[in-house]
Amino acid sequence: MDPKAFYVTTPIYYVNDAPHVGTAYTTILADIVARYHRAMGEQVWFLTGTDEHGQKAADAAEKRGLTPRAHCDELSQRFRDTWARLGLAPDVFIRTTEARHAAVVQAVLADLWARGEIYKATYEGWYHVSDEIFVTEKEIEEKKIDPSKLKRISEENYFFRMGRQRDAIKAAVTSGRLDIRPESRRNEVLGFLEKDLGDLCISRPKARLSWGIELPFDRDYVTYVWFDALLNYVTGAGYRQDDAQFARTWPADLHLMGKDILTTHSIYWPAMLLAAGIPLPKRIVAHGWWLVAGGKMSKSVGNVVNPLAYADTFGVDALRWFFAREMAVGQDTEFSDERFRARYDGDLGNEWGNLLSRTVNMIGRFAGGKLPRPALALGGPSEPRTVAEALPKVVPGLVDDVAFHRIGEAAMELLRAGNRHVDVTQPWKAAKDPGKGPVVADALYTLAETVRIASALLAPILPTKGPEALRQLGADPSLDLRRALAWGVGAPGTAVVPGAVLFPRIEAPKA
Ligand code: MSP
Repeated sequence: MDPKAFYVTTPIYYVNDAPHVGTAYTTILADIVARYHRAMGEQVWFLTGTDEHGQKAADAAEKRGLTPRAHCDELSQRFRDTWARLGLAPDVFIRTTEARHAAVVQAVLADLWARGEIYKATYEGWYHVSDEIFVTEKEIEEKKIDPSKLKRISEENYFFRMGRQRDAIKAAVTSGRLDIRPESRRNEVLGFLEKDLGDLCISRPKARLSWGIELPFDRDYVTYVWFDALLNYVTGAGYRQDDAQFARTWPADLHLMGKDILTTHSIYWPAMLLAAGIPLPKRIVAHGWWLVAGGKMSKSVGNVVNPLAYADTFGVDALRWFFAREMAVGQDTEFSDERFRARYDGDLGNEWGNLLSRTVNMIGRFAGGKLPRPALALGGPSEPRTVAEALPKVVPGLVDDVAFHRIGEAAMELLRAGNRHVDVTQPWKAAKDPGKGPVVADALYTLAETVRIASALLAPILPTKGPEALRQLGADPSLDLRRALAWGVGAPGTAVVPGAVLFPRIEAPKA
């Protein structure tokens, strides 16, 4: 049987919002995860997609004079196009409006209904007429909702016995079988699990909302959008469609998302899976917000960052670098033009691009364009070599921790050591002294290995520039990452291939 693939997911995005920095971030993060695991020889299954049912999509379609399906087709395509423009290639782009997904949702609902996990009861509450949603007393108070907009509704609905699963979820979270990260979020979930969970209303009468998946046991109702949406993760893994595919994909290894949707993923979703007898995902990681001037980006404030503008100006790799290096997953982080430029000019231009061009240049001038054979071990291993040799032990753990800011920092530390090594050894001076051939050879080999290892390490984050740097060094970009991190893999005699400046200075106006 094929080995289990590493299965990583992003949330599936609501079609109504155009792709923005939040959704671009999570999707790029998942792509980086996928590339690291692939670079270490694993099979990967990377899922993203769109969440298309519900009142908002239906309303927006109506406003545009379109059918909900035509509206969703168009907007879902916008996500696909944006991800393609950003060079993201998920293995599956799922849409909740696909027939195969409706079949999965209905099969799960029918099964839960047959086993008494779903029941019908009267739901009574305040209904916000223009928004078409039920609101709680607390929300009415907090959001100061105008009472004239509210109507007391008593309605028959279907409920999922979520409360029954509380102890099982708690046991899974406590034991780490369901690993929720970061720690603060895990504690939040455990706190939530202290209270009675209650049951979950999972239906909407069609008379009120028809844009959804019909309940298999009552055609007058559609299912609640989250119940439908969460199941995408199993549909996209072949559940009830392809048993072999499902076996090699499920359970998901990593569900990535923003902290606002942690509860649905760490309570509703495990409860649904436990009730349906499907194994739980292994890990949930909730990241923080990208902030602008200390506040969350919002359309009404007009401070939403358009990631595509940055990708257009600086290149997709630069955007990926900023995302990966600047945010410690789990913490809120500022997105500013200034920080972006500092990362671009400082890390990429001055440390990496600069060391690459100096190295390739000097190998051209002082070693006939070929990687020299290191001749000496002057006073023990060089600083860059010492830094590089620590990497193989830490990198797999950092990948597992989704700690790409630390991988980025480790690569920069290596490159900084390399740049210092240039200043210390000054190969252009030594080259003038015929007796110092071995010193020059040693210095140049050390520099080439330094950039090669840093470039291989960074390639999953910068999938264009990493391989480009490796090609300039005559190195193989497809080498397994663990192998590529080893000092000494660069073979003496390899011809370097001088190429374009990796990160040209960009004087463009604010993106
Ligand atoms: N459709 C649901 C998810 C269903 S998953 C079964 C949904 N969609 S969404 O389009 O609203 O998702 C937005 C994603 O972007 C969330 O993960 C959210 O946390 C993230 N972000 C939105 N704004 C953000 C920032 N400013 N910064 C970082 N991420 C943020 O929720």
